[in-house]
Amino acid sequence: MVRSKKTTKPSHKNFEPKIVAFCCNWCSYPAADGAGVSRLQYPTNIRIVRVMCGGRVTPGFVLKAFELGADGVLVATCHFEDCHYMFGARRAADVHKITEKLAEMIGIEKERLKLDWISSAEATKFAKVATEFTEMVRKLGPSPIKKVATNNRNKIREGIE
Ligand code: FES
Repeated sequence: MVRSKKTTKPSHKNFEPKIVAFCCNWCSYPAADGAGVSRLQYPTNIRIVRVMCGGRVTPGFVLKAFELGADGVLVATCHFEDCHYMFGARRAADVHKITEKLAEMIGIEKERLKLDWISSAEATKFAKVATEFTEMVRKLGPSPIKKVATNNRNKIREGIE
């Protein structure tokens, strides 16, 4: 009789995701600030990187965040009509589609990327988006490229030293 091996799924019970949030200086960054000032609860897993416009976030920014250990990346921009640089928020939406495809090509599920439009007056929305996205990434577990990226970084360091 052949006994089947038990397959154990990796447990993500104590997993705390690292989320990088690229926030536009004019809208979502003040919204995040407003959430803090208003004492709205949102997860501490979010690490905010302020950019002058959502249109400034290239696929390279997002993929680098994953390479450096992020489990999820949020890009939060102005609403289209509010972008201070006219077309930046629209550009961010176009770039996001490309970034999703690139991420999938290297094994990162597109659910680990999120784009949203949050004005400076929408602190509540920022807290909601941050909370829901963190929960989504928590369910997905650690980024599949985290281990590979860490090993590569260590090899590079060893080569340098
Ligand atoms: Fe906010 Fe362009 S200035 S997205």
